[in-house]
Amino acid sequence: NKKGFIFDLDGVIVDTAKYHFLAWKKLANDLGIDFTEDQNEQLKGVSRVKSLEKILNWGGVSISEEEFLQLMDKKNTDYLSYIETMTEDEILVDVPKVLNLLKVENQGLALGSASKNARTILKKVELFDKFDSIVDGTNVTKAKPDPEVFIIAAENLEIAPEKCIVFEDSIAGIQAANAANMISIGIGQKDVLSEADYVFKDFSEISEEFITQLINKH
Ligand code: G6P
Ligand code: MG
Repeated sequence: NKKGFIFDLDGVIVDTAKYHFLAWKKLANDLGIDFTEDQNEQLKGVSRVKSLEKILNWGGVSISEEEFLQLMDKKNTDYLSYIETMTEDEILVDVPKVLNLLKVENQGLALGSASKNARTILKKVELFDKFDSIVDGTNVTKAKPDPEVFIIAAENLEIAPEKCIVFEDSIAGIQAANAANMISIGIGQKDVLSEADYVFKDFSEISEEFITQLINKH
């Protein structure tokens, strides 16, 4: 009984969500735009381009295409400086335990992230070789909540979408998993991720029995 387990990266495997937040907040504030935690929640899982579009929209600011590209560049440079010194210490609690259990159980393992920096980060935290397939922001044309990223991951794993399980910390990502007809598991707060099939605070709350049930579900 083989299932496909697809992991988002930022906020699920590593706590980079806080670095994305810092970089976006600085950019927004520099433009005189307020940036709240609530707005940040709406940017989780959302591509770089879409995120900047949303921020400018919220602030009612319009800029030239050239400036838009410069700002995207600046945000990424800031972000890269935050993650530069990242090590395996920043892997979130019990992620390696779950990955190892799934490996032992011979399950399909994929990464499904919107980030163009995903491969860099996986190498930094030494998880690059754990996945059978990596699908990231360099492989997709449509951003979450579009299901494309997860559909491609399932195709690469050669496992039907109905037999895939997605771990996500973002609203957009849960919506993408649901649209792909996959089981959606939210990592974070129940009230924020209310559209998910299940929600856990983090992987320490996910028992071996729960994983076994997912594997044996028909
Ligand atoms: C993830 C994060 C988003 C980020 C997006 C693009 O989905 O949750 O906050 O905007 O990736 O990341 P990138 O590294 O390509 O800018
Ligand atoms: Mg995420």
